[in-house]
Amino acid sequence: MYNVRKVTEELWWVGANDRHTTLFENIHPIPNGVSYNSYLLLDEKTVLFDCVDWSAAPQLVENVEHLLQGRKLDYIVLHHLEPDHGAGLWAVLQKWPEATVVSSLAAQKFMDQFGFAPVKGERMVAKEGETLSFGGHSITFYAAPMVHWPDVVVSYEEKEGILFSADAFGTFGALNGKLFNDEVDFAHDWLPDARRYYTNIVGKYGPQVQALLAKAAGLDIKMICPLHGPVWRSDIGWFVDKYDKWSRYEPEDKGVLVVYGSMYGGTEQAAEALCAALTQRGVANTLYDVSTTHVSQLIAESFRFSHIVIASVTYNMDFYPPVRDYLEDMKALNLKGRTFALMENGTWAPNAGKLMGEFVAGELGGTVLEPKVTMRSTLAGSQAGELEALADAIAASVKG
Ligand code: FEO
Repeated sequence: MYNVRKVTEELWWVGANDRHTTLFENIHPIPNGVSYNSYLLLDEKTVLFDCVDWSAAPQLVENVEHLLQGRKLDYIVLHHLEPDHGAGLWAVLQKWPEATVVSSLAAQKFMDQFGFAPVKGERMVAKEGETLSFGGHSITFYAAPMVHWPDVVVSYEEKEGILFSADAFGTFGALNGKLFNDEVDFAHDWLPDARRYYTNIVGKYGPQVQALLAKAAGLDIKMICPLHGPVWRSDIGWFVDKYDKWSRYEPEDKGVLVVYGSMYGGTEQAAEALCAALTQRGVANTLYDVSTTHVSQLIAESFRFSHIVIASVTYNMDFYPPVRDYLEDMKALNLKGRTFALMENGTWAPNAGKLMGEFVAGELGGTVLEPKVTMRSTLAGSQAGELEALADAIAASVKG
């Protein structure tokens, strides 16, 4: 059965939802699924904007076939060739081999490398500032390299003020029959997945996202059609503001992320006691076990909060391996400018605090608050004052 939604009078959503893939890019869990958005324009020319993952290609083809009603497909515009969008091209071209494929030069190279374009049909290169007319609608291309691959272009449709934004302004989450941002409670139900999507998929490329936002600022955008997640037709500024903050690596919330790595519970207990002390001081905080929380969630929360407390056992005279994975991921994604506080544990030779301090100050450009709390196996009752002092220091910094 076809499954399409009208976006505007002549533009339709023809994508598909994926609730079977468990790991996006084979890394990031997507318990709420993901959508692959494609759009079909029925103007004097017919235009398919982007394709879908290979697994969803039958749904895409059925949707397009239903709406074309025997018309030919004139153009396929590919804003981004990564296989979660590009792989479906192969199936579309089996059905409509005469379509002209429009994409950046880099995307053309990638589609050959992946083997997505086995036909000899015509190809056009989408270049910065060039306009393509389809009748009543025309689009102008803007390069957006590294948002999120080098091939990415976005396009702006002048007549209705639509930005086809590629991965930008996308989010994890299947659409479940609701296409537009005003058909869901985005801030409540979608923002955590949107934050996790942005920070882990595009987070490394803040300067490139800033460059795209600067280009978009000159356009009268009334609607954003991304490749994943809801279409934005209201409160666009609210979501653009999130992207602006994330891409400048500025925290959204003044508060504390507490991440602990604990082997036998002593470090966990101390981290929880710190959270209680922070709460009593009116400081927002949230607590995660590094061993059981996927790092993509820790990264999202690290982008969100101004302060990060890391409590780690000493392990082979280093800090806990899952803590190292988390901090290395933060480094890889260029997240900087956070304020850290540290708690360390070591039954006979605590060493994690010193090494974590060097890492977060040196590799992450972080500020490290004093005092550091050191425990041996457990935090002793006699150390309550040390915990209170750390909570005081964090509270002063958060509120300062
Ligand atoms: Fe949704 Fe970079 O692909």
